[in-house]
Amino acid sequence: MSSTAVPVHQEAEFQGTTRRDFLTLLALAGAGVGVAAVAWPFIDSLEPAADTLAAGEPLDVDVSKIAPGQQIVVMWRGKPIFLVHRTPQAIKTLQSPKLLSILSDPNSHVAQQPTYAQNWHRSILPEFAVMVGICTHLGCVPGFFPNPSPTDPAPNWPGGYLCPCHGSKYDLAGRVYLGVPAPYNLPVPPYRVMSPTMLRIGENPEGSDFDLNSVVQI
Ligand code: FES
Repeated sequence: MSSTAVPVHQEAEFQGTTRRDFLTLLALAGAGVGVAAVAWPFIDSLEPAADTLAAGEPLDVDVSKIAPGQQIVVMWRGKPIFLVHRTPQAIKTLQSPKLLSILSDPNSHVAQQPTYAQNWHRSILPEFAVMVGICTHLGCVPGFFPNPSPTDPAPNWPGGYLCPCHGSKYDLAGRVYLGVPAPYNLPVPPYRVMSPTMLRIGENPEGSDFDLNSVVQI
């Protein structure tokens, strides 16, 4: 796959620009090195055709190559999709009463995900998170800080995402914190599990017809 395929697709979406689109692209440009460094080996290894990507057709991702505690970013329909391999400790933290008490919508009542991901881990498999990596405030790309820390990037950090634009915080299931500018959890795109090591982004499990355009906010 040509390394220009994704930017060309982003540019196509940029033409009907909004402020959110602009900020997303700006942030993607800033994060471009990291995205490229991590995502390209996976995309290249799968070699989806450029026209497949352009059409927003399903994209298979081999998650066996994501080490526990790490994230890769792939582009689907011109959007960054975060795929995280959560550690057992991170999975445990998702259910921590202390964490739940500081989240805005801990039980995912707002329709920001398909029903098959409306659960405490907001995914099909607890160990793998799949989210649209666009902040629900004004569309920047949140930074990935998976490790708990007393100080970094914020006091008493449990692991999650911090948006570089206005400081919104999300946990490792994309659930937004209380008292930050972002109003909603990160969207979960349609996806299905093809095998223990392969996820298909852009296709629902059998029996579901979830459409990403139906979420409250991307
Ligand atoms: S765009 Fe993320 S906090 Fe404003």
